[in-house]
Amino acid sequence: MDRIDLIIWLLWTCVNVPKCEPTMFGEVSSPQYPQPYQANVQEQWDLEVPQGYQIQLTFNHLDIEPSPDCYYDSVSVLSDKKVLGKFCGQNSTDRFHPGHKPILAPGNRLQLVFLTDDSNHESHLGFTAFYQAVDIDECSSSSVENGPPCSQICLNTLGSYLCACRHGYTLRPDQRTCALECGGGVHSELEGTISSPGFPDMSPHDLDCIYTISVQPGYMITLNFSQNFHIEQVYNQGDTCLFHWLQVSVQGKPPQKYCGGKSPGVLNTGAHIVQLEYHTDGHGQSQGWSLLYTTQRVQCPNPGTITSGTVTPSFAQYLYRDYIHVRCNPGFKLMMGDKEISSFKSICQSNGQWHLNLPECKIIDCGAPKPLLNGDIQFVSGENNEYLSVIEYHCNEPYYKFKDSAKVTYKCAVDRKWREVSNNDIIPPCYPVCGMNTEVSFGGRVFGGKPARSGQIPWQLLHTAQNRGGASLISDYWALTAVSVVDGFENTNMTWLGGIINSKDKNPVTMKAEKIIIHPNYKRVPVGDYQTDFDNDIALIKMSDRVPLGPNLWPVCLPNKTHEPVMEGTMGTVSGFGGFERGLKSEILRYGHIREYSSEQCVFGDMPVTDNMFCAGDDVQRVDSCQGDSGGPLFFPMLGHGTKEQRYEVRGIVSWGPERCGQVSKGYYTKVQNYLDWIRETMANN
Ligand SMILES: *[C@@H]1O[C@H](CO)[C@@H](O)[C@H](O)[C@H]1NC(C)=O
Ligand SMILES: *[C@@H]1O[C@H](CO)[C@@H](O)[C@H](O)[C@H]1NC(C)=O
Ligand SMILES: *[C@@H]1O[C@H](CO)[C@@H](O)[C@H](O)[C@H]1NC(C)=O
Ligand SMILES: *[C@@H]1O[C@H](CO)[C@@H](O)[C@H](O)[C@H]1NC(C)=O
Repeated sequence: MDRIDLIIWLLWTCVNVPKCEPTMFGEVSSPQYPQPYQANVQEQWDLEVPQGYQIQLTFNHLDIEPSPDCYYDSVSVLSDKKVLGKFCGQNSTDRFHPGHKPILAPGNRLQLVFLTDDSNHESHLGFTAFYQAVDIDECSSSSVENGPPCSQICLNTLGSYLCACRHGYTLRPDQRTCALECGGGVHSELEGTISSPGFPDMSPHDLDCIYTISVQPGYMITLNFSQNFHIEQVYNQGDTCLFHWLQVSVQGKPPQKYCGGKSPGVLNTGAHIVQLEYHTDGHGQSQGWSLLYTTQRVQCPNPGTITSGTVTPSFAQYLYRDYIHVRCNPGFKLMMGDKEISSFKSICQSNGQWHLNLPECKIIDCGAPKPLLNGDIQFVSGENNEYLSVIEYHCNEPYYKFKDSAKVTYKCAVDRKWREVSNNDIIPPCYPVCGMNTEVSFGGRVFGGKPARSGQIPWQLLHTAQNRGGASLISDYWALTAVSVVDGFENTNMTWLGGIINSKDKNPVTMKAEKIIIHPNYKRVPVGDYQTDFDNDIALIKMSDRVPLGPNLWPVCLPNKTHEPVMEGTMGTVSGFGGFERGLKSEILRYGHIREYSSEQCVFGDMPVTDNMFCAGDDVQRVDSCQGDSGGPLFFPMLGHGTKEQRYEVRGIVSWGPERCGQVSKGYYTKVQNYLDWIRETMANN
């Protein structure tokens, strides 16, 4: 076995016996050192320090038989089967002596092989050496064969190294080389700039840079490429942009590839998300590109106009998030289909559509006007009760009238109410007209009176029971009478006739009493020969239905409160269906004129004459009221009215008198003037 083979063999055996715990340093010496070594020594040491370090060996002392090329005896230092040095000699100045110069292995392992031959003429001591771990500066390219370990920046660490990249580059997965950053990423600002890597420098090879511009919906992206644009253009079979390209992709449209030397200029993408992909391959040259992107709000169509209303605000164009209101002109209402709405607002949405379509403005209406009792409505202008229509209310004249006007006019107002000029929306009631008759001439008597003509005393009512009695109609519901006429009839359906001058008339207006109200101060306790003292001899009758007023049935007026109650000597008219000849009852309505007397002239027997009554009669013409006339009216022409429209008020109610009518030609009458408040209150509350 020659020596090299032997060394290889020794190496092989060590590799097969790996028991080496790497240490940071150690010592190694030839056998028996510092005693002289033997002949025929074959010895090997495998030295190892931890990974990432280099092993460095330094001989402290070496004394080995010198020979040319250390042929006889030697110590060899090997690294990875490569001989780093083969040493012998005694003096550091010898050619094959290592001296104290350290020997650095390229790796972390080293083998020492000590060989001696069979002759040993002089005694030599062998060697002793020290080894240690030395940190490798992997970054100095000299220590590695395949060029620099890092393509850009190398950081040496204890036992290892790290590669890093300059700004704008990223470390590739090989952890050695650096790649240019594309920038890439997502741009979410409403405007910005993007350019190819390194622009305006030449674009690197093998790029696949993806840039996404993504702004919120409702905005549209516009790309504005600068004039400085160059991407390698290669044609092949109609395909341009074969190897280098910039592709612009927008959802819903085919992607567009750009290359060549002409800037695409301004691209309105119409989208809020745009993707750019810049691709280069390993060859060719592209100068690159840059662009400024801006965004515009999405535009909605012009909402248009609306009849009888306004759309606000009025813009030249309506953009995302703009909103409009619609207001109708006064008198018009907002309608969405069939539904009325109180207000309207529509917003321009991110998809360029209004979130609501325009409503309509329809004319308002006030609805059918309320009917007027005893009156009617005339439609003056407008139709369907629409806004600004005009109506007039009239009372059924001449029997009913408004208090102080012939008609009231209402207009359909903005608030959908029928309103008067003064803005009032209350319709005044129609009041029955009182005290009118259609026949004016009087002259006659009751007891000894004249027959009345139709329509002459239209307020005269008749009750045709056993005790015939009269009453005066004072409204379209109420009549005034004396207590004796209705006493005991309170809970019966007392019937009254009106509109007649003959009790046998076939077609009277029949009225049914709903309520009979006797004056609360009327005394029923008998006094002397009489059932009562006739004080407060007054009662009210409410008819169950509205009395149909007409020329022959018409209320008489109540007296004016401010007027003197009794005016001695004043002539009035008394009427009734009572006796006009002694012992007879009249089938026809008669009347006669009597004058009021002062109270002194009225004393009759021991009957007290109270302030609530007065007496009247005509002891010259011998006119008087009589049995059966009770409850009927004593009425007087009203003052203050022109001759054209003479009206009458009832001042007296036929109350009592001497049994024999016309004997003294005086009768007693309830003084209506004293009961005006009671009458009004009773009528109002019942
Ligand atoms: C080593 O050699 C040098 C010069 O060749 C000599 O001067 C010196 O004495 C020698 N040393 C030994 C120990 O022989
Ligand atoms: C595009 O950019 C150029 C240069 O910055 C500018 O002059 C031009 O007005 C821009 N065009 C649009 C539509 O923004
Ligand atoms: C009055 O008339 C009503 C209805 O017409 C009737 O129910 C009632 O019994 C009558 N009363 C009398 C007392 O006749
Ligand atoms: C009552 O008479 C006075 C004075 O004559 C008059 O001013 C007033 O209007 C009359 N009232 C009625 C309700 O007729």
